[in-house]
Amino acid sequence: MFNINDFLQRKIDKSKISVLTCYDFAFASILEKSDVDVLLVGDSVGNVVAGYSDTLPVTVDQMIYHASSVRRGAPSKYIVVDMPFMSYQVSVEQALLNAGRIMKETGSNAVKLEGGAYFADTIRSLVKSSIPVMGHLGLTPQSIQSFGGYKVQGRESKRRKEIIDDALLLEELGIFALVLEMVPEDLSAEITKKLSIPTIGIGAGKFCDGQVLVLNDMLGMNAEFTPKFVKKYLNLNENILSAVNEYNSEVKEGAFPDEGNVFK
Ligand code: KIV
Repeated sequence: MFNINDFLQRKIDKSKISVLTCYDFAFASILEKSDVDVLLVGDSVGNVVAGYSDTLPVTVDQMIYHASSVRRGAPSKYIVVDMPFMSYQVSVEQALLNAGRIMKETGSNAVKLEGGAYFADTIRSLVKSSIPVMGHLGLTPQSIQSFGGYKVQGRESKRRKEIIDDALLLEELGIFALVLEMVPEDLSAEITKKLSIPTIGIGAGKFCDGQVLVLNDMLGMNAEFTPKFVKKYLNLNENILSAVNEYNSEVKEGAFPDEGNVFK
């Protein structure tokens, strides 16, 4: 069973870490049987499951609902839960209370929060309170209104330095792993080399110590969503559509239910 010490061990062993998002019991039950190391209950649940255009509306109660469903489906997996927008930004005290609720009410192993130096006191307090924290730098979706869109971060030298400085600070504060989202590959390679904790990339190239993808994206659930950094391992939307249409035809033709589906 993967535990917090394995993150560091994998970095030492140069053995990659695989992470997938997960939001519900049904998928968690499948992932429980998989070899994937870590499940992330991402606030991307807001986009993927609820259909919002960004993650900002997601609440702590919603994260707890999804994360506890995932834990029931995947009792042995290492589960990280995103702290949603405005659940840790207001004060250290509120961050502690919300992270505490997430840990107590979901049975998850750690929380993830976005941002760098500005959240130093919060991250320090969470770590000192025995709440493991995964960091998240680069394109941090909760700041989408400040960025003005989903743009690659760290191409200019000032922003690049800011991300590197934040990464070093977060390590010093005690995070156990760092997500790097939508940054140039040479930047994630530099950070990965500088840190002794593992980096987990999404749209950050192949030199990170691990990779994370949104489960629904890599399964091809949304035909229209085709960002450069996603590899679709399935085209599930096509499989689902054809199954649903076959059912529709069979109902209308009277082919379903057949003898095997009826009670006598
Ligand atoms: O919310 C999420 O799914 C995430 C990943 C994209 C890293 O934060």
